[in-house]
Amino acid sequence: MIIASETIKGQRITLQKAVKSFEMAKAHIQEVKKSLPELSPWLGWATEDYKIEDSYEYLQGCVQEWEKGNEFNYMILDENKNFMGMISALNVKEKDRNLEIGYWISTTHAGNGYMQEAVKLLEKEFFGLGINRIVIHTDVLNKKSANVPQKLGYVLEGIQRQSLWNKKEQRFRDINTFSKLSNEYEQNL
Ligand SMILES: CC(C)(COP(=O)(O)OP(=O)(O)OC[C@H]1O[C@@H](n2cnc3c(N)ncnc32)[C@H](O)[C@@H]1OP(=O)(O)O)[C@@H](O)C(=O)NCCC(=O)NCCS
Repeated sequence: MIIASETIKGQRITLQKAVKSFEMAKAHIQEVKKSLPELSPWLGWATEDYKIEDSYEYLQGCVQEWEKGNEFNYMILDENKNFMGMISALNVKEKDRNLEIGYWISTTHAGNGYMQEAVKLLEKEFFGLGINRIVIHTDVLNKKSANVPQKLGYVLEGIQRQSLWNKKEQRFRDINTFSKLSNEYEQNL
């Protein structure tokens, strides 16, 4: 099973294993609520109804999935250890040595290059642990999200047409699939 670092330190941010605590749930729900207008168009769980119990349950799931090696969910913290958002290595397939990265950042902190820094930290960690392929999925309409893999040299493999149902907008969503391979990562070190 993959054993990932619980703390990954970057220049401006630290990624810290998500833990189940009341404090963490409070910080999580606070930033989710503040950022709902920016999160809700893209993240199905981010709705007006989202409450602290949901945060707590989510964190409990994070701990369980980490233990199983299926998902590694990290809090993104600033230099004063304030919670800024989440980044996750998801759908970890050990046999095929691939995974997917998912992310969101509080509106207060967006637009400062933090997510690109966070993705680079996860690349270093997981390519370093033998992962061969990292995938990032973004809604084709979500330009800010697609900007992250584009700026980091990911290859756009294609668009999964009408692959997800957007309940709020009652429409299907077209999804970009971006990927980076381990050899492409190493070439650019
Ligand atoms: C998509 C999202 C994660 C982007 O986060 P972010 O931290 O703003 O993204 P980036 O790291 O790309 O930073 C964006 C901009 O910060 C600017 N920036 C400011 N200071 C910077 C610095 N010191 N270093 C680097 N960039 C800086 C840059 O202009 C950069 O854009 P550019 O690459 O075009 O130059 C965020 O908008 C979000 O959470 N959205 C809602 C949820 C969502 O869509 N999640 C993804 C679902 S697939």
